[in-house]
Amino acid sequence: MSSHPEVLLEVQGVTVSFDGFKALQNLSLSVPRGSLRVLIGPNGAGKSTLLDTIIGKVRPVSGDVRYRGQSIITWPEHRIANLGICRKFQAPGVLDGLSVRENLRVAAKRTKGVWASLTRTTGRAETQRIAELLELINLTGKADQRADSLAHGEKQWLEIGMVVASDPELLLLDEPTAGMTAQETAKTAELIRSLSGRHTVLVIDHDMQFVELLDAPVTVLHQGQVFCEGDLASLRSNADVMEIYLGRPKDEGHHKGVGYAQT
Ligand SMILES: Nc1ncnc2c1ncn2[C@@H]1O[C@H](COP(=O)(O)OP(=O)(O)OP(=O)(O)O)[C@@H](O)[C@H]1O
Ligand SMILES: [Mg+2]
Repeated sequence: MSSHPEVLLEVQGVTVSFDGFKALQNLSLSVPRGSLRVLIGPNGAGKSTLLDTIIGKVRPVSGDVRYRGQSIITWPEHRIANLGICRKFQAPGVLDGLSVRENLRVAAKRTKGVWASLTRTTGRAETQRIAELLELINLTGKADQRADSLAHGEKQWLEIGMVVASDPELLLLDEPTAGMTAQETAKTAELIRSLSGRHTVLVIDHDMQFVELLDAPVTVLHQGQVFCEGDLASLRSNADVMEIYLGRPKDEGHHKGVGYAQT
């Protein structure tokens, strides 16, 4: 094996235009297999658009997206999903009337991977896998409760569990801690950290306490471009990064700012 980690996802010079407005401008990003990467940036920086481009929902006017070394830029969304690229959206998509366990089971059944074909023939493997997922998302004690009885944070964990149930190779999480308490946020960081290795994870978030707990390389987007990359400590000491976050009064908009930890 090479001493260099294998690159799983490579975004190369991608430009996305919405009626002439460049939401992404010649953006390049490389994500090694099994790694955890954090994306931050002010509102409108292009973070969600980047995820939309990776999953084939948005088509760039130029550039390439390569996955396992292969260009997927022209692939339809379902074919990209079948590669094991899975995006969790901000709004929870759990089925309220079902229990936590049933939600996970439904999600696992949708899986197209090897594990799904195994579980179709063996119920015991499925039960075991669901138990692991419940453990992972801290909801073992609430497995038989209806999803609509869960707290907001717990619903978010369930949804992460549902995404993980499909055993994605690349997991894209857009603001997974939105609306969470500080305690829920800390648990979510732990959960996401435990996913890397087996999965490759790209996570967008505004909450710097959370980003700090993730303890992973951070890419800063600004006006559709990569502004800089580094660990959070180096970004915090970078005056230019502080400027793009703090260039306007702190209480304008919903930004918590790179230097501020919101309680
Ligand atoms: N479908 C669209 N049509 C037109 N403009 C769009 C579309 N989607 C996004 N934009 C614009 O592109 C820019 C980038 O948006 P995007 O949602 O990617 O930002 P973001 O970094 O995710 O911001 P936030 O932190 O607010 O979620 C914004 O100016 C947004 O208004
Ligand atoms: Mg966004």
